[in-house]
Amino acid sequence: MKTAALILAAGKGVRMNSDLPKVLHLVSCKSLLGHILGSVEECGIRSIFVIVGHGEKEVRSFIGSRAKAIRQMPQLGTGHAVICAKRELQNWKNDLLILPGDAPFIESGMIRKLLEAHQKSCAGATILTARVSDPKGYGRILKERGKIYAIREELDASESEREINEVNTGIYVFDTARLFEHLVRVKSDNQKKEYYLTDVIDSFVSSGIDVQGFESEFSGDVLGVNSRMDLSKMEKVINQREIEKHQRNGVTVVSPDNTWIAAGVKIGKDTTVYPFCWIEEGVVIGKNCLIGPSATIRKNSKIEDGSTIGNFVEVTRSKIGKKTRIKHLSYIGDAEIGNNVNIGAGTITANFDGVKKNKTMIQDGSSIGSGTTLVAPVKLGKKSKTGAGSVLLKGTSVKSGETFVGIPAKKITKKK
Ligand code: UD1
Ligand code: CA
Repeated sequence: MKTAALILAAGKGVRMNSDLPKVLHLVSCKSLLGHILGSVEECGIRSIFVIVGHGEKEVRSFIGSRAKAIRQMPQLGTGHAVICAKRELQNWKNDLLILPGDAPFIESGMIRKLLEAHQKSCAGATILTARVSDPKGYGRILKERGKIYAIREELDASESEREINEVNTGIYVFDTARLFEHLVRVKSDNQKKEYYLTDVIDSFVSSGIDVQGFESEFSGDVLGVNSRMDLSKMEKVINQREIEKHQRNGVTVVSPDNTWIAAGVKIGKDTTVYPFCWIEEGVVIGKNCLIGPSATIRKNSKIEDGSTIGNFVEVTRSKIGKKTRIKHLSYIGDAEIGNNVNIGAGTITANFDGVKKNKTMIQDGSSIGSGTTLVAPVKLGKKSKTGAGSVLLKGTSVKSGETFVGIPAKKITKKK
C-alpha cells in the first residue's frame, strides 16, 4: 500500500503515573503500541514511522525493525511530533495516515474504510470521528452546515462546544505535502501552550482545502488511554468485542463480564467457556471443548477438539490433544499431551529446574493418577499409567502400557 503511517508515541503519559512508557502498557495481553502497529501492518502499509521520546529506549526496543523510530525531544504537542517527521516524510508523494499510540481499539478494517473514504472524496484531510456518551477530554468536532471547520480541544472549548459529543479519535489521513505546509503555521497559543496537530484542520479550512469527517461505528466509552482508569475501560471494550466475535462464531461464553480472552485467540464451534477464565494471546482452542470455570490458558497453548480444561487448571506453552481431560487443580507447563488422556486432579508438571524449562510428554490413552508430580523432562508412552501421589523423577521414561507408582515412582507389574 502506498499510504505511509505515522504513530505518535512520544508523550509522557503523565496521568498514568508510571515508570513504564504509556504506550507499552498492556491491554488484552498486548501493548497499546503493539495493537496499533499490528492493525497498521495488517492493512499492508509498509512505510511505518513511530515518533518516540519519553522512554525512548524501551519503546525503540519494542518497535525493533517493525517501523522506523523518529525522536521528538522535548515533546511540545502532537503537531510538533508530526513536524519531527518532516525530513523523512515531506517528499512522500502519497497520503499519510496518522494515529496516536494510545488508541488500541483501532482495527485494520476500520483503517481501511477510513483510507477508502479519503481516497474517494479527494479531500485534503479525513478525520475519523466517533460519537461518545461522555466527550470529556476529547477534541470536539466543530461543524457549520454539516461541514467540519475545526477541532476544539477540551481546555480551549466554550461551554456550548463542550456539549458536542462527536469527537476526534486522533486518527486521520492527510495529503502529506499540504500537511507539512500548514503545520509550520500552527501556533501554541492555547491553554496547554502546545503545538496541536488538530489546529491544522482550522488552517486547511481557512485556505479552502476540503476536510471530511468519517464517523466510525465505534461504540465504547474510551478512545484513548490517558489514565489507569482508561486502561481498564479499554480492556473491557476490547474484551467485549473479542468475546462477541467468538459468540458469533458459535462459542458459548457463560459470563462475558467475568471472562478474559485476548485479541486474536481462536476458538472452535460449540466450545463452552465458563466464568473466570483468562486466555492469552496466540491460544488456539478446538471445537466442543469445555474450558473452566477459573482456567488459565497461557500464551500460544493449543487445545484440540473435545478436550476439557477444568477448574483451577493452568496450561502454559503446551499442546493438549483431542478428548483429553484435565478437569481439576492442575499445572501443565511445557507439555505435549496426546489424545484421550486423563489427567487426575492435582497433577503438576515440575517443568522448571531453576535454570531451564523442561518438557513433559504424555502419549495417547494414558491415565495420570491424582496428585502425580512429573519432574520434567519425563516421557510417558501410550496407555501408560501413574498411581495417585506418585512422583516421577527427572528423566523418567515410562514405556507404553506400563504403570508407575510411589516416590520415586517405579514400575509395577500386575499380579497374576
Ligand atoms: C488527542 C487529540 C484530541 C483527541 C484525542 C483522542 C490533540 C491536540 N488532541 O488528545 O483531539 O480527541 O487525542 O484520544 O492532538 N504525543 C507525542 N508527542 C507530543 C504529545 C503527544 O508523540 O508532544 C503522542 C502521545 O504519546 C499520544 C498521542 O500523541 O500517543 C496523543 O497525545 P495525548 O497527549 O494523549 O493527546 P490527548 O490529550 O489525548
Ligand atoms: Ca490520548
